[in-house]
Amino acid sequence: MSAILIVDDDLASCRTLRLHFRTQGHETHIAQSAGEALAAPGRFAPDVIILDIRMPGKSGLDALPEFKQAFPGSHVIMITAFHDMESTIQAMQRGADDYIQKPIDLDELDATVAKALRYARSESQGVPVEAGEDTGNGRGNMAGRSRVMKEVFKTIGLAASSGATVLITGESGTGKDLVARAIHRAGPNPSGPFVAMNCAALIETLLESDMFGHEKGAFTGAVGRHVGKFALANHGAIFLDEVSELSYAIQAKLLRVLQEKEFVPLGARESQRTEARVIAATNVNLAGRVQEGSFREDLYYRLQVINIHLPPLRDRKEDIPDLVQALLARINREMRRHVRRVDPQVLRCFEAYRWPGNVRELENVLMKAVALSPADTITPDALPADIANRSAQPSDTARPAAQCSLREVEKGHVLRVLEATGWHRGRTCAVLGVSRPRLRRMIKDFGLVPPPGAPPDDSDPGAGSP
Ligand SMILES: Nc1ncnc2c1ncn2[C@@H]1O[C@H](COP(=O)(O)OP(=O)(O)OP(=O)(O)O)[C@@H](O)[C@H]1O
Ligand SMILES: [Mg+2]
Repeated sequence: MSAILIVDDDLASCRTLRLHFRTQGHETHIAQSAGEALAAPGRFAPDVIILDIRMPGKSGLDALPEFKQAFPGSHVIMITAFHDMESTIQAMQRGADDYIQKPIDLDELDATVAKALRYARSESQGVPVEAGEDTGNGRGNMAGRSRVMKEVFKTIGLAASSGATVLITGESGTGKDLVARAIHRAGPNPSGPFVAMNCAALIETLLESDMFGHEKGAFTGAVGRHVGKFALANHGAIFLDEVSELSYAIQAKLLRVLQEKEFVPLGARESQRTEARVIAATNVNLAGRVQEGSFREDLYYRLQVINIHLPPLRDRKEDIPDLVQALLARINREMRRHVRRVDPQVLRCFEAYRWPGNVRELENVLMKAVALSPADTITPDALPADIANRSAQPSDTARPAAQCSLREVEKGHVLRVLEATGWHRGRTCAVLGVSRPRLRRMIKDFGLVPPPGAPPDDSDPGAGSP
């Protein structure tokens, strides 16, 4: 049973809705104006508030912030006029959790209320992500507690202070960029420059000039002198991303920098010295490229004095909760949101998914979910279908959800909750949001049989287990 407050100036409509909700077993109050509803907020703590927008006196829209303040745990469903997109948008921006259009369709209303109650429940049971402010160094913070990531953090620590060249390997989106910056920050010259460059440039001359600089007139179009990235990174670090893509000729020049700490800008007569630390990254198998003959073996060994490998996310799923927490903190800050909880089912979906795009894909999924979630909890509704469908569902195993009837899904869900509570009927009712008699009917209807040793249904000695 849940508590519902209906605020609408139309008394007939209030009464119809009250009757409707009461027959469903909800405790229901009505108020005919925002003022009346807000007069004694302590008296009644609604789970859901159904708030009409158009009312004499204060409109539901104007009163919305007061409702959010007076009933902080409640979910607000606005009643908007048909086609009034503007007020709908405004309502959502001012903190409404959902809306329903007039004339009210009771099935739609029930679905919306059920969804709001699910949110309310997952907010009180969800996994807190403490998505407050992310501490200190912003984007540089790396999350993860898996054994491999702890090893990575350790290696970063050891490698950083040595000043040695580091090669970071790993699939796209695993965090190579982040590791490179972490190495620099933990290194001997953290306040020195960190200069990143992508080696997958299309035009070789431009890439070479970008790396080493050029003198005026060094090539067609070289109108002035240009300072290259190796010069800019002096006494700091240069990050060579996608290093596998360098041409054979530039590989030779890079090797010279690594061996002699010297390079010659394009068109220059004299070489320059650089004290830049080289950090390289690749998402291809460099050893394979060496075998194939497209990457110099001597450069390969020079680069990977220290190798840090970032395993794909699917091989370190223990990191997911930490990553979700860290990424949400960042997303909250960037999107000015306060998403603090993630439904446990969402984490189960995340753990079942393969994450071909690794941490970057997780970040994108969370960003979309935050944008789509009106409340401060992320629920499975906000996930892309291919991720939401992949959760481990023990009771309706092989078939994809898109091919199940409503009854099958309901049956599967009731059984899942019963199993999760160890067939505790009271807790099952609370989770499902149904009455005891309704649960009893469903168990009978669906032919669900309690396992041996399950607690008896004490309120109905005739039914259920012995
Ligand atoms: N351990 C982590 N903790 C927090 N955020 C992470 C972590 N790993 C990766 N990220 C985030 O995931 C995104 C992708 O990471 P990053 O750009 O470092 O990947 P990459 O390996 O360099 O990918 P690519 O090969 O495509 O360049 C970034 O937004 C990064 O901040
Ligand atoms: Mg990168």
